[in-house]
Amino acid sequence: MYTTAFLDLPPLLSAGGTVRLPGSKSISNRVLLLAGLSEGTTVVHDLLASDDTRVMLESLRALGCDLDQDGDTVRITGLAGKLSVLQADLFLGNAGTAMRPLTAALALLSATQGGVFTLSGVPRMHERPIGDLVDALRPLGCHIECTGKEGYPPLRLAGGQLKLSAPIKVRGDVSSQFLTALLLALPLVSQDQALTIEVVGELISKPYIEITLNLLARFGIKVERQGWERFVIPQGSRYQSPGEIHVEADASSASYFIAAGAIAGRATPVRIEGVGEASIQGDIRFIEAAQAMGAQVTSGPNWLEVRRGDWPLQAVDMDCNHIPDAAMTLAVMALYAQGTTRLRNIASWRVKETDRIAAMACELRKLGATVVEGQDFIEITPPAAGQWQHASIHTYDDHRMAMCFSLAAFNPLAPTATDGKPVSVRIEDPRCVGKTFPDYFESLFQVAQTNPDLIPVITVDGPTASGKGTLASALATRLGYQFLDSGSLYRVTGLLATERGISLDDAEALEALARQLGYAISLRFDREHIWVDQRDVGELVRREDIGQAASRVSVFPGVRQALVELQKAFRGLPGLVADGRDMGTVIFPDAALKVFLTASVKERAERRYNQLISKGISANLDEICADLEARDLRDRTRAVSPLVPAPDAQKIDNSAWTIEQSVETVLGMWVAGWPHVIVRH
Ligand code: DC
Repeated sequence: MYTTAFLDLPPLLSAGGTVRLPGSKSISNRVLLLAGLSEGTTVVHDLLASDDTRVMLESLRALGCDLDQDGDTVRITGLAGKLSVLQADLFLGNAGTAMRPLTAALALLSATQGGVFTLSGVPRMHERPIGDLVDALRPLGCHIECTGKEGYPPLRLAGGQLKLSAPIKVRGDVSSQFLTALLLALPLVSQDQALTIEVVGELISKPYIEITLNLLARFGIKVERQGWERFVIPQGSRYQSPGEIHVEADASSASYFIAAGAIAGRATPVRIEGVGEASIQGDIRFIEAAQAMGAQVTSGPNWLEVRRGDWPLQAVDMDCNHIPDAAMTLAVMALYAQGTTRLRNIASWRVKETDRIAAMACELRKLGATVVEGQDFIEITPPAAGQWQHASIHTYDDHRMAMCFSLAAFNPLAPTATDGKPVSVRIEDPRCVGKTFPDYFESLFQVAQTNPDLIPVITVDGPTASGKGTLASALATRLGYQFLDSGSLYRVTGLLATERGISLDDAEALEALARQLGYAISLRFDREHIWVDQRDVGELVRREDIGQAASRVSVFPGVRQALVELQKAFRGLPGLVADGRDMGTVIFPDAALKVFLTASVKERAERRYNQLISKGISANLDEICADLEARDLRDRTRAVSPLVPAPDAQKIDNSAWTIEQSVETVLGMWVAGWPHVIVRH
């Protein structure tokens, strides 16, 4: 998992293969709240692990629910409608699906049982309106104070006196989440009378209300729906745990993979598991919208398979009120369509994680599209032929912006792309996908393919003990890139030769051994572990004598040649950091950034000395110095692939630097070099 402020996506050329999606956010948080209010224990399976579900879980814990989490299964013992904690300050991040229903539930509980609760979130949460919900609850006798701006969180809920005889009125034309909040919470106070909710204004996002009603039924509450205007909660409704419940995968998350299939699923389809045609989520109807644009979709109860149908995609003019979240994906699919796509009736975009109409327009324009935006619509015309632009996409702390714009990485396939000149797409703050889909990019890279030439490589070469291994692995972690420690391949060869009694001077036998690596001899890298035929030799190969053996086997041209393809195969999405001696000169001459790292012999010897001592191995500084000099000489003067900087390498002497300084320096070079010219011959 990358930790940098950005993620660079290489141009992608096709999509195919299987992806399993995480649980739906909307279902997860509704189920958690219902389980928290119920009598008895509920076991929730396939729960989404994300920022929004985490704040809901923390809130339930703070309110006194008993929680026991094991991976994506949570066992919750609910409050049975009775407060056990009378004071709590709840921080809800940017989770609307936690803020709205908790406000309704706690306002009602506080009015009937006492207690004082504050609900707050990140600054954006304090800009997201909640006035319509507050206005529905206050006439019931709930005391609710907006402690910042009227109509917005933070809120303070402090007691009240309930009067429930009149119908409860709530506006339904800004966000359906207010109605959902009331539906989820009002059964708490339905002991003495049936409760009627009346929707004022045209109800938007009706499919989300269907999810709410569906889940209430699973928890024993049968709401009577009269059209989309009136909802009646029967007298004596009680939350009853269903015992066990499974969260289905997020249909909105599926939209990115449906789009990937429609744009780039050719030889093999993109198969999506965890959600299918039987879904209770409204966003599943995104499938029809994608089909209208050209996607070819087949489906079963719990899976979907998508491939390219019409190509280029067809522009559409569509009312998207029923699929507000997934419709964002259509806006990016429009980049691959012929003509102008118009998405209508999407005013709710303006009050989501960010003003999504403005954000979408701004970022699509960066790529070269022509965009017209209105209060409740957006119109997208793809870039003209050859007019695609490199773009660093701002994501506005909005997970869907980040996921949608990853689809722009398929730009070489766009009908208006210029041959051989893909544009670079940088996603800023990529970890914002954590809101609903923490492993989104990993999943995308699982089903996306490209030409290895298009995958960026950073090479870090240098002499032994220069700190290149530490630097390279830190860079790989920060960038979320693959990592190749090429020295370990020579070390494994040296180790196996020693164990098998092969002479370190027998060029032919050593070459034959090296040729088996990754083939007859299985090889797998997993952080510090190196699995050779199911045996972890990670620690063993770090030994000094094995280092010496590696140095000796590495002088033979046949051995070096035997390991070339194995090293090249590490070039995987989204990029590679490779460290060794000849990464920039021989293995990846087209690397986007080449670093040649050195440090004085004295400094390197001290680092090696400290390393050995810290491992409890006795060492002698003078001997290490002499050994390093001998090894440098052998590496520099061998006939093939001698240790020399590539002509275009950045030479760095890190004698006086900490690792962190080296990492920051190289990351600085990488950032300054963007957009990277990836194909260099
Ligand atoms: O980086 P290291 O110390 O793990 O490397 C072990 C030996 O392998 C080193 O003596 C030189 C050799 N080597 C090489 O010749 N070419 C590489 N790309 C990496 C290592």
